[in-house]
Amino acid sequence: MRVVRRIADLGVLEGDVGLVPTMGSLHAGHASLIRRAQLECETVVVSVFVNPSQFDDPQDLASYPRDEERDIAFAEAEGAHVFFAPSVEEMYPPGFQTWVEVEELSRGLEGEHRPGHFRGVTTICLKLFNIVRPRYAYFGQKDAQQLAVLRRMARDLHLDVTVTSVATVRAPDGLALSSRNARLSPEERREALALPRALATRDLDAARAALDGLDVDYVEIAEFEPRALAAAVRVGSTRLIDNVVLEEEP
Ligand code: PAJ
Repeated sequence: MRVVRRIADLGVLEGDVGLVPTMGSLHAGHASLIRRAQLECETVVVSVFVNPSQFDDPQDLASYPRDEERDIAFAEAEGAHVFFAPSVEEMYPPGFQTWVEVEELSRGLEGEHRPGHFRGVTTICLKLFNIVRPRYAYFGQKDAQQLAVLRRMARDLHLDVTVTSVATVRAPDGLALSSRNARLSPEERREALALPRALATRDLDAARAALDGLDVDYVEIAEFEPRALAAAVRVGSTRLIDNVVLEEEP
């Protein structure tokens, strides 16, 4: 596996390229995306970039877990061919001022609670698509709205990339894997389990009832394709999101 930090050093990648964009702290959820890419592509690029522009909360950005050495070993063990980890200066050089925004789909749910979040996500993903030129890009169903927003962007801007979704990977206790889970104390983790339990009811009223007493940002039916029951809760200082798909993938 090649570790590349400069855009200029990426060179020409062979065959169908699959891109797995991440913010690092790689776990089995990311691994499932990498493995799917490997099945479908000749060259698998894993990008690791903690994208400042998608963090609405500076504290969340500052405390975002980072361990590049471990991530490199992890990506290599999962069969990635290129590990692309650009610097903030490379991605947002002085004078940077161009943004892409998917207006309507970015508004509710996460968008309502994290102003500017999806503008940051779409801009960095479009930049990564332009830099890496993937034929396929892989995203987790765990972030259902992100997936919907990126699919819309690809369509609206006629991007020559297929956005593929991969099912949510969960820990044995039901909690969806997330880099932020590392911040939970054992007690907070027990509390957090109410989230997957609530969503497993697949029913809005039952999920609301199951989340009663928690600090809930939202629990809603999200009209994406496929439709999902989605929720976000705060446990201590950690914000967790999750969803379950309510219909077959279109
Ligand atoms: P990050 O949170 O690192 O997630 C990278 C990818 O892994 C996303 O597509 C996410 O949906 C997927 N993922 C995370 N947890 C998962 C799980 N438990 N099961 C399956 N897939 C999972 O999402 C981002 O980074 C960023 O917003 C990014 C797209 C990289 C843009 O900066």
